[in-house]
Amino acid sequence: MSVLSGKKILLGVTAGIAAYKSASLVRAFIKAGASVQVVMTEAAKEFVTPLTLSTLSRNPVHSSFTIEGDENAVWTNHVELGLWADLMVIAPATANTLSKMANGASDNLLLATYLSAKCPVYFAPAMDLDMYIHPSSENSFQKLQSYGNVMIEATSGELASGLVGKGRMAEPEDIVSFIEKDILNKLPFKGKRVMITAGPTYEAIDPVRFIGNHSSGRMGVELALRAASLGAQVDLILGPSAIKVSNSAITVHNVVSGEQMYDAAHAIFNDVDVAIASAAVADYKPATVATEKIKKNDSSMSIELVKTKDILASLGEIKKHQYLLGFALETQNEIENARKKLKKKNLDGIVLNSLNDKGAGFQTKTNKITFIDKEGTATPYELKSKAAVSIDIFDKIASQVL
Ligand code: CTP
Repeated sequence: MSVLSGKKILLGVTAGIAAYKSASLVRAFIKAGASVQVVMTEAAKEFVTPLTLSTLSRNPVHSSFTIEGDENAVWTNHVELGLWADLMVIAPATANTLSKMANGASDNLLLATYLSAKCPVYFAPAMDLDMYIHPSSENSFQKLQSYGNVMIEATSGELASGLVGKGRMAEPEDIVSFIEKDILNKLPFKGKRVMITAGPTYEAIDPVRFIGNHSSGRMGVELALRAASLGAQVDLILGPSAIKVSNSAITVHNVVSGEQMYDAAHAIFNDVDVAIASAAVADYKPATVATEKIKKNDSSMSIELVKTKDILASLGEIKKHQYLLGFALETQNEIENARKKLKKKNLDGIVLNSLNDKGAGFQTKTNKITFIDKEGTATPYELKSKAAVSIDIFDKIASQVL
């Protein structure tokens, strides 16, 4: 899946011959899963029609603040357009527009939108070779990059003038892969490895029976997806769960018992930057596992149980550089008990679920948490989807580890 999937892209089209390629660029963004709106200069319409771009982007094309001669015309809000965008891409970007952008001119909708946009801005210059190397163009490139805008360099080849040299706008598919790579390289957890335990464990009684619990594993899976979307390399150690995870940044280690989860966690813990224990590990397991199916005989039977290893506590004992986060499910004196657990297991933070809260806990798509940091400071959150909760949790982790 492209990192552009779900992103809102505002494409600025200016008046260069390469504007005909902006139709392919819109298609490539849409193919990557982005939504696209186009803002173009009046002169750009000489090179590519608004109808082409609106059809391909499935959105009206914006070019002026109002529609001339239309007394019912509404004002196109450049501020709203700028705020709508997750990223703005100006391609082709002419020498004229780049110079105006560099100097804060805003005499058309595209420029006013550029000045209003708070998102990352990319620009792909397109001009003749002598214009490209003119000190004034170089000055615009430098200035815009000093504002944090990202330049997608032109390539060399035959130009519209018939001359051969540098000035051709990068090809649409190269613009898309340039932006994808740039976004990935700037993700906050890029280069970090995150380990997450999730789901229930099954502790065998005999070949057909086990002791388990109702954990779905959803909270841990959402945390894994969030970590991956922030650029981390993720190891998800997952007990028996119906949820299928398919994400190139997530390695799923399927385990069944607490012992297997313990071994999987210890095999990689040394190499991770962040470890999160969200699994509902069985606290007890049968002292012995019957090799044959146990037959029913007497009117009652008992199974001797022994404690399982506490994975989280064992990680807390050997922790060095790692940020270690645990979960606690409490029913009374919740915050106090969670704080005690945080200290006892040598954690950097703990996520408290209270069973007193409706919609929190097992087998729900929602959760209501309180995050307690190492100093014991508690931050309560509203009831949210587990995907939204995972965003809150990673915001907290990021504030500690980045
Ligand atoms: N945990 C673990 N290994 C275990 C048991 C728990 O890694 N064998 C982790 C869980 O993943 C969770 C935290 O420890 O992050 C929960 O701590 P625990 O002491 O089990 O507390 P609760 O489950 O909240 O319940 P209780 O207080 O009854 O022990």
